[in-house]
Amino acid sequence: MPIKKKTKKLKPQDKKLIEEIIRVDHAGEHGATQIYRGQLAIFNEHTEFGKEIKEMAEQEEIHKSTFDELIVKEDVKPTIMFPIWNIAGYALGVGTALLGKKAAMACTVAVEEVIGQHYEEQAEELKKEKLNLNY
Ligand SMILES: [Fe+2]
Repeated sequence: MPIKKKTKKLKPQDKKLIEEIIRVDHAGEHGATQIYRGQLAIFNEHTEFGKEIKEMAEQEEIHKSTFDELIVKEDVKPTIMFPIWNIAGYALGVGTALLGKKAAMACTVAVEEVIGQHYEEQAEELKKEKLNLNY
């Protein structure tokens, strides 16, 4: 379902908050997909572990696509750090995969925990500002 622009009618400070959230989350989701790409460059995606990583990567691709759509619809400028973020994500994925399955999984678990916490904080902030965009 296509996303309709919601920030158009918002107060400037609310629009700024939403744009900031979209910008940060867009970078985060791209970084997450890059971590998985890096890990899948090392692990064979046809092994049991590789399939597990690939499934998580596919979920991240959906998240990434959502924010790719949002950043265009809401006319939000991506972070200037975007290219560096992507390279760092890929390097983190390759690096942790080279350390082994345990390190790779520890990395993804840690990243998912931080992202989950981050989204909860954003949801709280939106609630505090009485903003509900229902994306
Ligand atoms: Fe995600």
